[in-house]
Amino acid sequence: MNVVNFGSLNIDYTFQVSEIARPGQTIDSQHVTCFPGGKGLNQSIAFARAGGRIFHAGMIGRDGLFLKELLEKDGVDCTCLKVLEDVGTGKAFIQVDRNGQNSIVLSGGANKAITEAHILAVLNRFSAGDWLLTQNEISHVDLLIDLAEKRGLRVIFNPSPMSDAALRCPLEKVSLFLLNEDEGARLTGKEDPQGILAAMAALYPRAEVILTLGEKGSLWSDGKETIFQEAMPADAVDTTGAGDTYTGYVLACLSRGEGIRASMRKAARAAAIAVTRKGAASSIPCLRELDL
Ligand code: RIB
Repeated sequence: MNVVNFGSLNIDYTFQVSEIARPGQTIDSQHVTCFPGGKGLNQSIAFARAGGRIFHAGMIGRDGLFLKELLEKDGVDCTCLKVLEDVGTGKAFIQVDRNGQNSIVLSGGANKAITEAHILAVLNRFSAGDWLLTQNEISHVDLLIDLAEKRGLRVIFNPSPMSDAALRCPLEKVSLFLLNEDEGARLTGKEDPQGILAAMAALYPRAEVILTLGEKGSLWSDGKETIFQEAMPADAVDTTGAGDTYTGYVLACLSRGEGIRASMRKAARAAAIAVTRKGAASSIPCLRELDL
C-alpha cells in the first residue's frame, strides 16, 4: 500500500512578536526567521520522521528547491513533485507571540498553480487501496478528492485552512477527516466536540473523524465508538505545525497497522515535542525522540 500526500510547500517567514497585531495596528518584531513549511510538507515530514514511507506531490518554484532537498533528506519520495520555472514557491507570513500562539497569512504561489493534468499524472501512479492525504492549501482540491476516490484510493482530508472552497469539496468521498475544533464547527455548525462528532457521523456515515482539541487532547470516532487521547504537557514556544505533526504521526502509525489508541498516543507526544521548538517542519521530532 502506497501513501501519497498531495499538498502545499511553503517558505515560512516567522516574525517573533510580543502580541499578534490587531486590526489597524503596526507592530515591531523581535526577529524574523525563514523556515521550511506548508501544511503539506510538514505532514509529509512528520509521516517520514514517524518511520513511514510517503510520496509528496505538489509544486514549488526554483526558490523552493531547498524544500525538496529537505523532504528527500527525510526519505520522502519527491518524484511527484514538480518544479516550475515561472512561478514562485508558496509563502507564509507568520506571527508567533510570547505564548507560542500564531497567526498566518498565505501567498499560494506554486501551490495554487496545480493543474488538472498534474493531478491526473500523479494519480495515475497510484491504484486502488493506496492512500491519498490532502489539505486545503492547493488548487483543485475538489477535483483531486473526486478523482482519487473514483480510482479507489482511500481519501484522507485535513480541510485546513478552512474555506468555502473546502466546504464545496465532495466530502462524502472522504474516508478519514482530520479536523480541529474550528474546522469541525464550520463543517457541522456545532461548537462542542461531542456535537461535532455526532454531526459528522450523521453527515458522513462512512467516514472516521480525528478531532484535535489543542491542549484538551484529541478524539477519534467512527460514529459508533469514540476514543479520547489526552494532550501531553509541554512549554510551548511555537505552536506552528503542531497539528501537522500530529497528522503525519497518526497516519504513519495507522498505515503500518498500529491501532488507533497507540497511533494517537504517539501523535500526541510528537506534537507536544514540536511546540517546544521553533518553526514548523524544523520542530518535528523523530520517532526515537518520543521516549514512550
Ligand atoms: O500548519 C502550519 C503551516 O501553515 C505553516 O508551515 C505555514 O506554511 C502554513 O501552511
